[in-house]
Amino acid sequence: MKVLIIYDSVYGNTLRVAEMYQMEFQNRDIDAELVHAERLEWDRYRDVSLVIFGSPTRGFRAMPTIIRSIRTGAKAMKDYRVAIFDTRIETRDIQSKVLRKLMGAFGYGTDHIGKVLKKHGFTPVVTPKGYAVMSAEGPLKPEVAYEVQMDVKALTEHLKV
Ligand SMILES: Cc1cc2nc3c(=O)[nH]c(=O)nc-3n(C[C@H](O)[C@H](O)[C@H](O)COP(=O)(O)O)c2cc1C
Repeated sequence: MKVLIIYDSVYGNTLRVAEMYQMEFQNRDIDAELVHAERLEWDRYRDVSLVIFGSPTRGFRAMPTIIRSIRTGAKAMKDYRVAIFDTRIETRDIQSKVLRKLMGAFGYGTDHIGKVLKKHGFTPVVTPKGYAVMSAEGPLKPEVAYEVQMDVKALTEHLKV
C-alpha cells in the first residue's frame, strides 16, 4: 500500500504541509512518497492506494502543474482513491470587502482541482481541505500541524476499507 502526494509550492507552505502528511502516514507505517508535480512520472508508480494533490491557491485557482498532472495521469490513476488539499488565506483575514466577495465567488485551489478531478470521474474520499497561512506568502498558521494529524487519521480509515 502506497500513498502518493503530488504537490507544487512557490513559497514552501504547501511543501511543508505535504511533508507533514508524509510524516503522519509514515508514523502509521504507511509508505508515503512526495513528488513535485513537474517531476511526476506516472508510470513509475505501482500499488498506489491513494493519491493526494496539494496546491497553493493563487488567483483563486490551483497551480497549472497540478491540473496538468491530473490530465496526464487520469488513465494511470484509474483505480486510485484521491484526496485534495490547498493552502490559502482565510476570508476572515482579508481586509478588502471586494476581495472577500471574489474569494467567495471564485473559491480556492481545492475547488479548481475538484472540478478537474470530477471531469475525469474521480471523487475525493474525504472533504477537500484548505490550510491557512498568516499572510500572502505564509507562514502557515500554527494550528495546521494538528489539523493535518487529524486529517491523515481520517484518510487512514479510508485506506482500511
Ligand atoms: C500571487 C498570489 C496570489 C494568491 N492568491 C490567493 C487566492 O486567490 N486565494 C487565497 O486564499 N490565497 C491566495 N494567496 C495566498 C497563497 O495561497 C498562500 O500564501 C499559499 O500558502 C502559498 O503557498 P506556497 O508557499 O506553497 O506557494 C496568494 C498568494 C500570492 C503570492
